[in-house]
Amino acid sequence: MHKITLIPGDGIGPEVTNATVRVIEASGIKVQWESFLIGAAAIAEYGDPLPQALIESVKNNQIALKGPVGTPIGGGFASVNVGLRKKLDLYANLRPVKNLPSIKTRFDNVDLVIVRENTEDLYSGLEHEVVPGVVESLKIITEKASHRIARFAYEYARKNGRKRVTAIHKANIMKLSDGLFLKCVRDIAKDYPEIESDDKIVDNACMQLVIHPEKYDVLLLENLYGDIVSDLGAGLVGGLGVVPGANIGEEVAIFEAVHGSAPDIAGKNVANPTALLQTAILMLKYINETEAAERISKAINNVLLEGKVRTPDLGGTSNTTEFTYAIIEKLG
Ligand code: NAI
Repeated sequence: MHKITLIPGDGIGPEVTNATVRVIEASGIKVQWESFLIGAAAIAEYGDPLPQALIESVKNNQIALKGPVGTPIGGGFASVNVGLRKKLDLYANLRPVKNLPSIKTRFDNVDLVIVRENTEDLYSGLEHEVVPGVVESLKIITEKASHRIARFAYEYARKNGRKRVTAIHKANIMKLSDGLFLKCVRDIAKDYPEIESDDKIVDNACMQLVIHPEKYDVLLLENLYGDIVSDLGAGLVGGLGVVPGANIGEEVAIFEAVHGSAPDIAGKNVANPTALLQTAILMLKYINETEAAERISKAINNVLLEGKVRTPDLGGTSNTTEFTYAIIEKLG
């Protein structure tokens, strides 16, 4: 029996997490879910958008499945997504980018993994106005965080039979900050002689990625480049609606899809749960439930390939419940 913290979130979050939980349970895996409110709903209930009980649950269970949560724009509470990453020191963002056989895109054979540093860089939030009309934003790169994320990328490559790690940077211009990042990656690479290592300047990497994405394997990036390139990666295989993601720390991991809470379609039972299902597959592999993960993956692909049951975002007319049942039926 696995014990997993469940954070349904808001908007379409509860709809896609409900679908995902049903599919996981139909695969025969036994899970005890500990479910928590987050964001605006948690403020209404506990007066805190990120309740301490939720943090404790993730720390105890070491694993969580999370739906999207809306962040108020311009005021209100700070992003609970960023808050969770900070409180739990989820320093690595992992995004596998792989073609789904059932979703036609411009490219075939894309199978790359993006590893993004999650804690520093221009995301440090250190900005100030020097004089009116002049602002300064600080890019923080440390040896500690760069070594740690490089170690994560190479360990991931080793454990998952990946052949190459490509560090992406702009060390030709940011000689000190990106230079330090690149040096740290090279330090760590020495411990993994069986894995090929190379590096590319970020602008060139973007150009190459949209021409020959199949040539890439593991990409290792600082926070901001990682943010941008990971959405580029999602676009290569069908967009944010189909790619999984995870935020991983030394002790705990939170698995969450990349898309947001989609308030425009919330509550209408039309959201596509594919991205969270792909995320659940990643989570099941992480907890060594590989066989079930592969069965779920096949079931999703079969339903999408048949094309009879698809949600509106993929050109279909079925709703979330019908799509979920179609997958469960394929699981047998
Ligand atoms: P969004 O991803 O929620 O929506 C963008 C568009 O994609 C919308 O038209 C939406 O209907 C569609 N869409 C997204 N997921 C879908 C799905 N599973 N099935 C079908 N259609 C889908 O991005 P947006 O509108 O920028 O953000 C909405 C809210 O979500 C904001 O409050 C934002 O802060 C939050 N957000 C939360 C994230 C998280 O919890 N990790 C990540 C990104 C945004």
